[in-house]
Amino acid sequence: MAVMAAAAFAPRTARAASSRIDVLVDEPIGPVTADLYGHFVEHLGGVVYDGVWVGEGSKIANDGGIRRALVEHMRRLPKGAIRWPGGCFADSYDWRDGIGPRDARPVRPNFWIDERGMVKRPAGPAKHEPNTFGTNEFNRFCRQVGAPPYLAANLRSLPARDFYQWVEYCNAPAGSSTLADRRAAAGDREPFGVRYWGVGNESWGCGGEFTAEEYATEYRRFTAWLPQYGVELALIGSGPNGGDLSWTRRFFTKLLEKGEGQLRRLWGWGLHHYSWNASRGRTTDWYDGKGDAVAFSTDEWYELLNEADRMDGLITSHWAVMGEYDRRHRTKLVVDEWGAWHREGTEVAPSHLFGQQSTMRDALLAALTLDTFHRHADKVAMANVAQLINCLHSLFLAHEDRFVATPTFHVFEMYGGHVGGQSVRSVFSAPRVSYARVNGPAAIWGLGGSASLRDRTLTLTVVNPHVSEPSTAEIGIRGGSVKAVRASVIGAPDIHAHNTFDRPDAVRQREASAERVSGPLVTHTFPPASVSRLTIDLG
Ligand code: AHR
Repeated sequence: MAVMAAAAFAPRTARAASSRIDVLVDEPIGPVTADLYGHFVEHLGGVVYDGVWVGEGSKIANDGGIRRALVEHMRRLPKGAIRWPGGCFADSYDWRDGIGPRDARPVRPNFWIDERGMVKRPAGPAKHEPNTFGTNEFNRFCRQVGAPPYLAANLRSLPARDFYQWVEYCNAPAGSSTLADRRAAAGDREPFGVRYWGVGNESWGCGGEFTAEEYATEYRRFTAWLPQYGVELALIGSGPNGGDLSWTRRFFTKLLEKGEGQLRRLWGWGLHHYSWNASRGRTTDWYDGKGDAVAFSTDEWYELLNEADRMDGLITSHWAVMGEYDRRHRTKLVVDEWGAWHREGTEVAPSHLFGQQSTMRDALLAALTLDTFHRHADKVAMANVAQLINCLHSLFLAHEDRFVATPTFHVFEMYGGHVGGQSVRSVFSAPRVSYARVNGPAAIWGLGGSASLRDRTLTLTVVNPHVSEPSTAEIGIRGGSVKAVRASVIGAPDIHAHNTFDRPDAVRQREASAERVSGPLVTHTFPPASVSRLTIDLG
């Protein structure tokens, strides 16, 4: 099973360039904001209980019940918005259950209680939601991290009134209303100032099984009046499942029956895309098509990276449809669920529904997806990897007092160098990498990535998907000369490498050497199965 990426660690010798990267410094695309590095926290399995929340009385280091190691790690990352409380959970959640004295809050069956993989799991908060972690606790978590909250309102099972009263609870000044005073009485006098609000989740499925037309009508009703309290609310519609262009087209058609003014209430259009089908064309069955998180073949490695690479086409195709209705593109895309979804079986604790290990494959998958967002920084306003901890494509795994950062965390930290910069156009040319699908050969690009410019510093991130071959590229900087280059890399001798509680540093970011050639040219060798960042000071 071990596929070695050994050349990554061989002594460096001069190689002839087989690839070419051109960075067009004078061709800006859009700003790389921290919100492209957003997160997602759902009341699902071990995400909240055993993940974010350990409780104030816990022997596990915490601040107000929130796991301290998690907050300390998140402070090292871009401060992207954190989406909560779901996911599918959001459309069965009554926010009033999660406020007031904790010991008086009701216990409810969790949305996920009857999920196929949940039935055999132990009793506990993943099955019966104790509501210990509610609106105040979540917003305090965001404050500790320094990230904006993004709340998803319940459109399936609560009336519109509960939505605008949740806004009131969060954002009204203390002393101005009964709900604001309840928030203050719970210890949060200062309003939370929540700007991002999701209007339902996956309304085509768990969020109500609506048609696009029905959802558009509900969307108008739910957003027709919301109190502002000095916060410019950014409302996000429940957009398509992957490539369902008809959901986007029909929603916009129906929404705009009441005129273009409706677009003022649609800041973002959600898009969900999971990379789950590792079967290489054998099946499209949701359960059967998934592969193991750790024990995957080389072909499955490439296949899942290709699945993730579909993000590019999803963004451009939905964007084109949105443009038919919104020529000025006032509404941006919000990719508020993305990541790898593997078969169950590698979770670190039995209660962690959808918990999965995260290997180098997930690191590359995250890197190429973030690169995609940078290349479409004019279209994508926010993205939220699913989910933060103990779940799908997580940055962290934790159980009781044990905690570890996954390779994906290191990608987020490395890529943070882009944030605050302006994404600029880049062109990659490299020999494609072949692999086998069930019905014939397939291929993935040989090098991919993105570039951004802040002041006179260029950040270039590059993924080499080849499991065993390094790739040497000549990098041309059009519009600047090179003063200095620094490089770092995330790689491992084995493509299945991952971090565990006992080996937390098996995969991490390391410094690498970069060869500067002359004037506007840099030559760099990208190790097999790696993610690299070059930081280039321009003259
Ligand atoms: O992230 C897990 C689930 O996937 C979310 O609850 C739902 O929105 C999606 O289908």
